[in-house]
Formats: sequence, C-alpha cells, structure tokens
Amino acid sequence: MENVRVLGIETSCDETAAAVVEDGRVILSSVVASQVDLHAQFGGVFPEVASRQHTLHISPVIEEALHRAHMNLSEVDAIAVTRGPGLPGSLVVGINAAKGLALGSGLPLLGINHLEGHLYSAWLHESSGELPSEPSFPLLGLIVSGGHTELVLMEDHCVYQRLGGTLDDAAGEAFDKVGRLIGLSYPGGPAIQKAAEEGNPMAMEFPRAKLPGTWDFSFSGLKTAVLREVRALEKGGETLPVTDLAASFQASVVDVLVAKTIEAAKEFKAKEILVVGGVSANEALRKKILAESRLTVHIPPISLCTDNAAMIAGAGCYRFSAGQRDGLDMDALPTWPLSELSS
Ligand code: KG4
Ligand code: ZN
Repeated sequence: MENVRVLGIETSCDETAAAVVEDGRVILSSVVASQVDLHAQFGGVFPEVASRQHTLHISPVIEEALHRAHMNLSEVDAIAVTRGPGLPGSLVVGINAAKGLALGSGLPLLGINHLEGHLYSAWLHESSGELPSEPSFPLLGLIVSGGHTELVLMEDHCVYQRLGGTLDDAAGEAFDKVGRLIGLSYPGGPAIQKAAEEGNPMAMEFPRAKLPGTWDFSFSGLKTAVLREVRALEKGGETLPVTDLAASFQASVVDVLVAKTIEAAKEFKAKEILVVGGVSANEALRKKILAESRLTVHIPPISLCTDNAAMIAGAGCYRFSAGQRDGLDMDALPTWPLSELSS
C-alpha cells in the first residue's frame, strides 16, 4: 500500500471520533470527544444522550481531525465509517456525516466493522517515532471491550475465523458491573484497575470459568460470586474490602483471558497474538500475557485500546486497497458479527 489516506469516523458507542491514517499504519491525526463524564451520572451509557452528543460533536471533531492532519478533504482517498456493531442511534450519526461528506466530495465511502477496527489498532503508530514491527499472519486475536469478548483467528488481512466468544457478559461489561457493585465509578475498568493496585489478588477465591473444549468465555458466574461475597460482607456489618475485591476479581478475569488466548494460539498454530479493545488497556492483562506468551504479543498503546477513529481509518486503508466501496444507501448494522465479513 502506498500513499493511501483515509478519513475515519467512529460513533458506535459513547466516543465521537475522527482520524486520518496513512497506509493503514501511520496516524496523521486522531481526535476523540469522550462522553464518559456525562454518562458516569447514569452509571452506564444512556443511548439517547449518546446520540444527541454525537450530533453536537461530529462536525467539529471531523474538522479538527483534518486540521490536525494539515489536510483538506480533497487530499484524502476515502471516507471510512463504523457501520456496526453498536448503538443504532449512535451509528447513524457517524454514517450520515460520512455520507454527506462522500456525496459532497465524490470520495468513496466504506462501512467498517467496529471489531475489525479494534484488530487493526494493532497496526497503528503515531506519525512521530519509529514504526513498530508489523504483525505477521496467522494471528490469534483477542478482542476484549465493553460489548465484546471474542477469540478470532486472522489468517490474512480482512480474513477471519471466529473461534469463540462470551456466552453472557463481555469482559468490559463485567468490569463495569462489578465496579458498580463494589461502589466504584463508571467506567468500572479503569476504576477497578486502580483499586486493585492496593489490593491482594488472592484475598478471595473467585471462580475461573475455563469452559474446556470450547473457545468461549463466561463471566456471569464470576459476577454472581462477587455479588454473593459483597452481600455476605455487608450482612456481617463489615466495610467492603474494595481493593481486595477489585484485585481478586481482576485476577480471575485476566487468568481466564490469558490462558485461553495462549492455548488457542498454540492450537491454531498462530505466529503472533493481538490483544485489542478497551479491556486491553488493563495493566494486569498486558503484563500477564506479555510475560506468559512465548509468541510476540501486539497490544496497542493505551490511547488506541478504547474506542477511536484511527482504527476505523486504519482498517479502511486495507479495505480501500482491497477494492471495497459502499453505496450511499448503506445502512447501520447494529449487530454485525465479524464472521459475516467478506474478505
Ligand atoms: O473498546 P471500548 O472503548 O468500547 C467498546 O467497544 O465497548 O471498551 C470499553 C470497555 C469498558 O467496559 C471499560 O470498563 C473497559 O473497556 N476498560 C477497561 C480498562 N479501560 C477501559 N477494563 C479494564 N481495565 C482497564 N484499564
Ligand atoms: Zn470498541
């Protein structure tokens, strides 16, 4: 790929984001307007509020992304936008903005799968500094976010085989729910990580659902175990040992994610491993998989773990080069499994 520049737009959940990426790897700009503080008062994402915030921020965020990349729209090759999965009312804001720009400029429009975007965050790099090594196929990918926990085999660019995923809560969702349960602020992931630093991961013995013989995960039993522990402690009139609860819960999630990812990489003879999505920002997860895997593990820098548009632009570069073009009648796909993507 040479000199392909794509403007990416992401509005699938609670971040309004735009970015310009070159050749799938170099970030020329990346702007993220987060609504996290706004949703914290509800203890989670409030869809109507998210959609209205996207509407307010989308135009200035796109302008800022082009401005920071020192580019006009006429200097990019295509516009890539998250088509799904995500909140319907949020997705349409980004899609409509992208369509408007495509119509006005005559540039090609590409609908990108948000999970594929997370995988492509592993290829990205800030324009200053050295380009890190390029992941080599076949890759075993662990996608862990607020909405998804998936193990996929990535055989080549844009070619995926889904091995398994969560049967109930996503890993990030478990962090968010348990955070609320033990009295921490939203989002639970970063709050639990911080509390866990002061706690003992072996203080409580929480279950680790290994689900042998499958590549699936389950976190609802763990969540229930934490709830039971909290209730018992409260009944005994004790103040909650929040740091120990956080550390023990986090250790349980991390153990399962790391063990299954490494096992799957072996089983499917992957050359390298990708760990992506919001939960890949977790320090304990990063440390453990880097320490325990004999294979090279690519984990994006923290700023690219949570939702951003650089990953959508990055995936867009590869799909643009492969010839993908979508029509102006493209609709949102709120549930869009990776396995349904064409290569
Ligand atoms: O990828 P993302 O920004 O949005 C989705 O596509 O869902 O992921 C958000 C999720 C939230 O559940 C949040 O609690 C979790 O990622 N998260 C973390 C950390 N930072 C964010 N979980 C554990 N440790 C963290 N440091
Ligand atoms: Zn995401």
